[in-house]
Amino acid sequence: MFDQAIDLIIKSKNILVFTGAGISTKSGILDFRSENGLYKFISKNYDLPYPEAIFDISYFKKNPKPFFSIAEKMLEQHAEPTKCHKLISWLEENKQISLVVTQNIDMLHHSAGSKKVLECHGSFMTAHCLECKSAFSLNDYKQSVLDGLIPYCDCGGIIKPDITFFGERLPASFYGLLNDPPETDLVLILGTSLNVQPAAGFAVEMAGKVPSILVNMQSTPYDDTMTLVYNEDLEEFAEHVQNKLVTKT
Ligand code: OAD
Repeated sequence: MFDQAIDLIIKSKNILVFTGAGISTKSGILDFRSENGLYKFISKNYDLPYPEAIFDISYFKKNPKPFFSIAEKMLEQHAEPTKCHKLISWLEENKQISLVVTQNIDMLHHSAGSKKVLECHGSFMTAHCLECKSAFSLNDYKQSVLDGLIPYCDCGGIIKPDITFFGERLPASFYGLLNDPPETDLVLILGTSLNVQPAAGFAVEMAGKVPSILVNMQSTPYDDTMTLVYNEDLEEFAEHVQNKLVTKT
């Protein structure tokens, strides 16, 4: 079923991979917008004006508790990379990856061994005080979050992980990428609804310049603009591709 995609991947030397939450669901992490995704969980279990408020900077400044409650669940989860994360890392070892741009904050591309990763929505690895802007590492604030507490800086400000919230700018590295995208001969878009800008816009624009493959369980508003679209499970995709590539390369 994935033969055309496999042919494209085999002949590509500079693949730009763009990933979203769907690549991690098989490791037990919820995506955001699926029927049983995080936003549905939040609307059932948290008293918020709307589910996305949990990642909204204005709301966070007024009430950081819901975010840290979700962060506690995320940080205590010991998720393992999926077959799809491993396929991407294998392609990098095979010198076929120009860059992995991920919207995910779960750090699973690193766990899988990928090195060329740009986390365009940040991650938990670093944090900053909202008041004095002091920098912190995950180790500095993780235990407070796991203990169900809000982490505070000595100055009294809240320590906020460097995850991009709605209402915040993406990391500087993302804008650097917009100005100077890597050489790319194939765009591989995996496990994202392509709903959140400006990240989705970058992927769609890059996909318009070279052959593109989109693998996502549900359709997206941009399916018509891609070279190949598979509304299929990513683990199945990764397994097929990996098996074929191992025998052909
Ligand atoms: P979404 O939840 O919007 O989309 C994930 C997509 O993955 C859905 O369309 C699913 O159909 C698909 N999916 C889930 N499991 C899959 C599987 N096993 N195989 C194939 N497809 C699967 O998540 P994102 O697009 O990543 O931002 O969301 C983008 C941003 O919105 C996130 O980075 C986050 C969120 O608000 C911030 O937190 C800043």
